[in-house]
Amino acid sequence: MRKPLLAANWKMNKTVAEATGWLQGFCPAAEGSEEAVECAVCAPFTALWPMAQELERLGTALRLGAQDMYWEPAGAFTGEISAAMLGECGVSYVICGHSERRTLLQEGSSVVAKKCAAAIAAGMTPILCVGESQSIRDGGLTKEWLEAQLFESLEFWDNAQEIVIAYEPIWAIGTGQAASAADAEEACGFIRQVLRERAGEVADGIRILYGGSVSAGNIGEFMACGNVDGALVGGASLKAESFAELLRNML
Ligand code: PGA
Repeated sequence: MRKPLLAANWKMNKTVAEATGWLQGFCPAAEGSEEAVECAVCAPFTALWPMAQELERLGTALRLGAQDMYWEPAGAFTGEISAAMLGECGVSYVICGHSERRTLLQEGSSVVAKKCAAAIAAGMTPILCVGESQSIRDGGLTKEWLEAQLFESLEFWDNAQEIVIAYEPIWAIGTGQAASAADAEEACGFIRQVLRERAGEVADGIRILYGGSVSAGNIGEFMACGNVDGALVGGASLKAESFAELLRNML
């Protein structure tokens, strides 16, 4: 009932030439998979427009995503980007509240909530990231932390059906130490329970992704979990061939 989503998060990687070159490698390799798995690439802002044009030329179902956006429609917000600017580039998904932004740029959950709401209002789907640090896990506070992050980042429970959640434990991101499938299932199941308590049966349709050192080698274990509906992938998405292999292992 929930179509799996495989989303690449390129972070601050790839020039325009590298991004379009990646598409030329990945798209033919992904052909025929779109019925089973939805695939998206969250690219740097500068690559989005040329990627949209390249996708049109290649005629593929791959979706485009952004890694952030601002919540106001326009104005004196130096360095920021609006939903309309992203929409013009064919963006369907926007990552909101990635832990790197929460940590490096002190982005708090109230700001993340505004971004999620603005993305939905503009017809895009936020990929809301939540996840605990190693010290929170060690202290046995993972569930409390996840619940608080969900409540603070989701002021808009009315349209909760229009979001994707990514459970990304901070200790697993970019470390090569992915969570075990059992830990991912426990956290994603808990997130769904929180969503159900708050938003009712809509929760059964919300896709919850796992992210953190996902690779072609471990994706199968995560996809075997009942509450994991796909993955948000950083490092293993940077090479078209390894991302295509990862996709194949989801089919
Ligand atoms: P990783 O990054 O796959 O390199 O661990 C995931 C993410 O930060 O979204």
